[in-house]
Amino acid sequence: MTIEELGDDDALAVTALWAEVGLTRPWNDPESDYRRSLNGPTSTVLGLREGSVLVGTVMVGHDGHRGWVYYLAVKTDRQRRGHGRQLMTAAEEWLRRQGAVKIQLMVRRDNIAALRFYERIGFEEGDVAVLARWLKT
Ligand SMILES: CC(C)(COP(=O)(O)OP(=O)(O)OC[C@H]1O[C@@H](n2cnc3c(N)ncnc32)[C@H](O)[C@@H]1OP(=O)(O)O)[C@@H](O)C(=O)NCCC(=O)NCCS
Repeated sequence: MTIEELGDDDALAVTALWAEVGLTRPWNDPESDYRRSLNGPTSTVLGLREGSVLVGTVMVGHDGHRGWVYYLAVKTDRQRRGHGRQLMTAAEEWLRRQGAVKIQLMVRRDNIAALRFYERIGFEEGDVAVLARWLKT
């Protein structure tokens, strides 16, 4: 098992994994999300591989103030074996190296399994509202 920064050639496997575990949404193009993260100077996607199989991913980015995590995914038949925790540890290490002092993420309220997972690995819900607006022209 290795965790490393992924590259352009992994796009197909990554987007297939995200679809498999239900992380894709009609209003987001997963391949664009992937490539944008790879191309940004302060973001990347880490992948957990077992041989040639991509078992998990986590997208990380440092915005200059905080570190953010997106697209944490573990293949359905490999879940509950500690890989999600391993990926989050790798994400934290990557963000520390970038100078981030706090790690944040957003979870859909109906994703109860993910909320339980994050609670189990030490995350707490903050008393904040998340506001957003599209920047499309
Ligand atoms: C969330 C996800 C990444 C967790 O990965 P995982 O490899 O199954 O998690 P781990 O095996 O590392 O679990 C770490 C701890 O969380 C616990 N945990 C994991 N899923 C849990 C669940 N559904 N309910 C309760 N506890 C859970 C584990 O028991 C483990 O506890 P322990 O260390 O005390 O034994 C995985 O379930 C997944 O890919 N889900 C679909 C995609 C998703 O929702 N991603 C998050 C988007 S915000």
